[in-house]
Amino acid sequence: ARRAIIVVAAGSGERLGRGIPKACVELAGRPILAHVMQRIQELTQGPMNPGGAAPGPGTPDPEAPGLDAVVLVLPADKSSVETLTAVGEQFRTATGVPVHLTRGGASRSSSVRAGVHELLRAAAGTWDPASTSVLIQDAARAMTPPGVYETVFAAVEAGAPAVVPALRVTDTIKRVHTEPGAATGAETVLETVPRSELRAVQTPQGFTLQLLQRAFDFIGDLPDAQAETLTDEAMIAEAMGVEVAVVPGSEQAVKITGPSDLAAAESLIQTTGA
Ligand code: CTP
Ligand code: MG
Repeated sequence: ARRAIIVVAAGSGERLGRGIPKACVELAGRPILAHVMQRIQELTQGPMNPGGAAPGPGTPDPEAPGLDAVVLVLPADKSSVETLTAVGEQFRTATGVPVHLTRGGASRSSSVRAGVHELLRAAAGTWDPASTSVLIQDAARAMTPPGVYETVFAAVEAGAPAVVPALRVTDTIKRVHTEPGAATGAETVLETVPRSELRAVQTPQGFTLQLLQRAFDFIGDLPDAQAETLTDEAMIAEAMGVEVAVVPGSEQAVKITGPSDLAAAESLIQTTGA
């Protein structure tokens, strides 16, 4: 069995508003991507504590399954490539895990596709797609604990072709109707969705490499407008009729989207020393 992680870091970070790609924005003095890679490094250096708790000190666990490859999907501009390549190089030096770099696309899904193609190129047809587990991680989820990666890998290896980590929803969620053509705010409640059935989905999402290959064929056969509604790979699996398993996510794995998320991550790092 093989394990690979694709980190999509090619987004421009418009909502964060720093004028540079989000993965390069500094969080506690280091680029956001460096926080992701630190936790993946902890994953490779166990002992692990699946379920999201902090791992123990970095003594390598000989029983821990290895990580065979990391693919970093990068923005196009030279300065970002330099910053993020250095982060990848540091990770490779610390772990010995091969790091492959590729350029992302205009949407998250095209960046994921670029990452999978790079992985296939790196594996050069020698990996069995059915027994290769691939995690797709948003660079923007800087604080995803190592235990979540381990839990998702373990679920794929236990036979689930598609796996998402998720949390229960605490807000009450209502479905609304927006009056067509009406001024902003002209909305009425259609229904309250039963909260017990709702989950907020995070990354890393896990798949067999075989399912990802089938998903791209499936998507390629759809009309563009329909393909564009499938914004993550788990949605493609759902549309294909593949069962998607849900495993526990982590409160720490919040996505850094706007300035207040960055401030919250800073203070979490200060209080926990993570
Ligand atoms: N992503 C990517 N390629 C894109 C768009 C997004 O690799 N063309 C990645 C981002 O780098 C991020 C993840 O997908 O790690 C989730 O996207 P999001 O949080 O929306 O990040 P950005 O697109 O960078 O932010 P914004 O939408 O505010 O511009
Ligand atoms: Mg975006």
